[in-house]
Amino acid sequence: MWGTISNLVQALPAETAHKIAVTSLRAGLAPVPNRVVLPVTCSGLSFDNPLGLAAGFDKNAECYDGAFRLGFGAVEVGTITPQPQPGNPRPRVFRLPDDEAVINRYGFNSKGMGYAASQLAPRKQDGRAPGILGVNIGANKLSRDKTQDYYSTAKRLAEFADYLTVNLSSPNTPGLRDLQHEEALVRTLDAVFQGCKEARVSLPVFVKLAPDLSDAELCRTLDWASARGVDGFVLTNTTISRPQHLKSAAKDQAGGLSGAPLTHKSLSMLACAARHLEHVGLSEMALVGVGGIANGTQAYARILAGADLIQLYTSLSLKGPYIAHHVLTGLHACLKADGLTSLAKAKGQIKTADAAEAHAEYVLKIASAQRAGS
Ligand SMILES: Cc1cc2nc3c(=O)[nH]c(=O)nc-3n(C[C@H](O)[C@H](O)[C@H](O)COP(=O)(O)O)c2cc1C
Repeated sequence: MWGTISNLVQALPAETAHKIAVTSLRAGLAPVPNRVVLPVTCSGLSFDNPLGLAAGFDKNAECYDGAFRLGFGAVEVGTITPQPQPGNPRPRVFRLPDDEAVINRYGFNSKGMGYAASQLAPRKQDGRAPGILGVNIGANKLSRDKTQDYYSTAKRLAEFADYLTVNLSSPNTPGLRDLQHEEALVRTLDAVFQGCKEARVSLPVFVKLAPDLSDAELCRTLDWASARGVDGFVLTNTTISRPQHLKSAAKDQAGGLSGAPLTHKSLSMLACAARHLEHVGLSEMALVGVGGIANGTQAYARILAGADLIQLYTSLSLKGPYIAHHVLTGLHACLKADGLTSLAKAKGQIKTADAAEAHAEYVLKIASAQRAGS
């Protein structure tokens, strides 16, 4: 039944489909697949499994309980801005069906931090079950001091979060990506920590980066952000690049591209970050791999290349509500076929994106053979 509903929703415009999905999850109208338990600890937090719903799906913290029921071990709500704002004019989300991709230029449509706080308060009263909740914060488009926006959102929302993600990488808010660099980065992160301090909350803080940074820029940003005391990095947001091989009619729409065309790019960036952090003695930094993950093999490659955690968004919107179960079952099979008993034993075992992909594909073949033989 859910497959049919999911196909019908795919026939609607992308933003309408997104709204229906959020409303259904909020109302508890979604499947509840068997939970896959693959425990992992990261930055002092215990996750039932490493797969999170990436930011942008539950922008206003309205359906996180429903998302947990789909099988995600974590849900990152947001991006949440201090003041409510409408985002860019519609249409602003486009499916690229021939490329298993999406382009969006939502532009941080947000009901604001006051509304988000009202949605998150009941979870705090209930004792924070059932999964790990991340709050992703950003700045208003028309704000004259974007740093101040990060201070305000951190101060207002830290008490409701298990971790905070500082989103410096949306391509749809002019000037935001400039905050990934040196002095602006330092000012912004100091503002976030000041906000948390004034809220009297101590929690892990992650920084979300763009896949369009060069390797050298990435390494510099990792160094500067680590020195300011962040706990980890979410790699990556959507890309403004457009690979030559895209076929779909919407391929030249402005905005951030996500889904399959991002898989290798995000994996490469993650592998580069893992190598750099190891080289500078910061292997304890958390790495969250996101971008074009749609199956267990891609998830496993991300862990092998150094991810502690993984996230997805586009494959949920294109493939429907069983995606978390599908990815986690596949990941579990890869781990087993590789003879490993925990994700921690797989993390960072392979240093390059190509080798991680090749090994994950090889392990998939073993897992298939094991299934056929059993
Ligand atoms: C429609 C849409 C809206 C998004 N909105 C946000 C957002 O508000 N904040 C954010 O940090 N990332 C946002 N993202 C980026 C995703 O969180 C993720 O980093 C990116 O899409 C790559 O993962 P994926 O290929 O699994 O979608 C959005 C992505 C999509 C497709």
